[in-house]
Amino acid sequence: MIVTCTVNGQRIPLDGHPMARLLDALRAAGLTGVKEGCGEGECGACAILVNGDLVNSCLTPLAHAAGATLTTIEGVAAGRVLHAIQSAFLECGAAQCGICTPGMVLAACSLLERNPEPTDDQIRGALAGNLCRCTGYIRIFEAVREAARRLP
Ligand code: FES
Ligand code: FES
Repeated sequence: MIVTCTVNGQRIPLDGHPMARLLDALRAAGLTGVKEGCGEGECGACAILVNGDLVNSCLTPLAHAAGATLTTIEGVAAGRVLHAIQSAFLECGAAQCGICTPGMVLAACSLLERNPEPTDDQIRGALAGNLCRCTGYIRIFEAVREAARRLP
């Protein structure tokens, strides 16, 4: 089955069984910023935005993307200009490992899009589905706070 959707502003066909994982279809299409951690919906490494909603692409069937608008980490920056969230992650030392960071940035995008002035509890809640096993979450929370300050 060919599923046509808009990914990062471009209409692209994704090929596969309707029940295949969207994660695999995106990676096969070259969007390797979408990572696989647990493969079970627990870690958030595979998170993307589907019609603006944060979803775990490892649990999402390819058919769900038909006609949808998707954003992966490749579509967050404007060309070579980083999004404010990405800049804040860099400057706060929150970009820790390449497996988890894309999903965390997208979770932050989803949060700040809906709620530009989140409380610390709301930031914590928004990132609860993104696991980090390296150094912890302090710098990540700081980066999201900083991005919220910078975004209009
Ligand atoms: S790989 Fe999808 S939630 Fe972990
Ligand atoms: S950011 Fe990947 S394990 Fe911490």
